[in-house]
Amino acid sequence: MKIAVLPGDGIGTEIVAEAVKVLQALELPLELEYAPVGGAAFEASGHPLPEATLKLAREADAVLFGAVGDWKYDTLERALRPEQAILGLRKHLGLFANFRPAICYEQLVGASSLKPELVAGLDILIIRELTGDIYFGQPRGRRVATDGHFPGAEEAFDTMRYSRPEIERIAHVAFQAARKRNKKVTSVDKANVLETFQLWKDVVTEVGQQYPDVTLEHMYVDNAAMQLVKAPKKFDVIVTGNMFGDILSDEASMLTGSIGMLPSASLNAKSQGLYEPSHGSAPDIAGQGIANPLATILSAAMMLRFSLNQPEAAERIETAVKQVLAQGLRTPDIWSAGTTKVGTAQMGDAVVRAL
Ligand code: NAI
Ligand code: MG
Repeated sequence: MKIAVLPGDGIGTEIVAEAVKVLQALELPLELEYAPVGGAAFEASGHPLPEATLKLAREADAVLFGAVGDWKYDTLERALRPEQAILGLRKHLGLFANFRPAICYEQLVGASSLKPELVAGLDILIIRELTGDIYFGQPRGRRVATDGHFPGAEEAFDTMRYSRPEIERIAHVAFQAARKRNKKVTSVDKANVLETFQLWKDVVTEVGQQYPDVTLEHMYVDNAAMQLVKAPKKFDVIVTGNMFGDILSDEASMLTGSIGMLPSASLNAKSQGLYEPSHGSAPDIAGQGIANPLATILSAAMMLRFSLNQPEAAERIETAVKQVLAQGLRTPDIWSAGTTKVGTAQMGDAVVRAL
């Protein structure tokens, strides 16, 4: 089982080191190969996603990714910015299905921004389409307006697009995931206003007919944003487009206590996947040894389950994480009075011991 390890920038290197410790403790036949990505790759070779890194990722069974980005690169032209590396990997590997589970662990109920009774036992899965929508739609650009409210003024435009096959494949992923869970899919759209999302709603409805055992509901994105903080436990699987999924999944992360707890998986049609924490490179705390490595460790567990066919090993990691939380160990982002504050490496070591 070959894993491309791409730590990246900022806390990326610190948290990936802990996930690697945990993977090695499993004593599975894993072959780990490292490559630079993001700002680290830009410094070394002048490009955030060097050809050799992309080749390694393509040939691996799975990619374990840390995070990329730093404010010091904000003045670079867009194509050279670290964030282009993650967008490039998603595009080149065809990673169209992004899984973001939002689970509120029993021990962290108090760390959520919502009342304990709203989040206790929360376990929802957001499935975000990752390679279409307004983030990739052409045409896009800037021009002088010839019509609209201000003809002659400078304007910018992006294009929201989805094709039927793009919607079909993500809908199948969502219904299949729901079958293994509580058999409910909420498809989030804005069909009342956007033609793109009317097609989305129509196609999801059609695909849903092939899954009579799964309940399908449709919800407008504005209402979904509200319901996520009003009654989040009513959801099981949420499926939505790239932009709505980006926003809703960050919103959902806060229900769980900290973005440092949120893993993610991005899969293509061949079950090859890229696994990364939902957060970024956190330059504000990089180099201090205090970042929470659990999102990355839990991403490694998702990798074992989805790409490497090792569900038991995945469960062992998830159980070990619950154990260290039960022991009261907390990085600063999830710390509260009465618990023990630990650093990144201590947290990783504790997970290894629990394993
Ligand atoms: P961020 O997720 O890096 O940080 C947001 C806040 O959460 C910060 O206060 C940070 O300290 C905290 N945080 C994040 N992860 C944490 C962890 N594991 N433990 C404890 N605290 C944690 O988002 P931000 O600040 O908007 O972006 C920083 C850089 O990361 C930017 O260059 C951005 O473009 C990049 N980024 C990269 C992503 C990726 O590599 N997939 C995703 C999101 C942002
Ligand atoms: Mg985001």
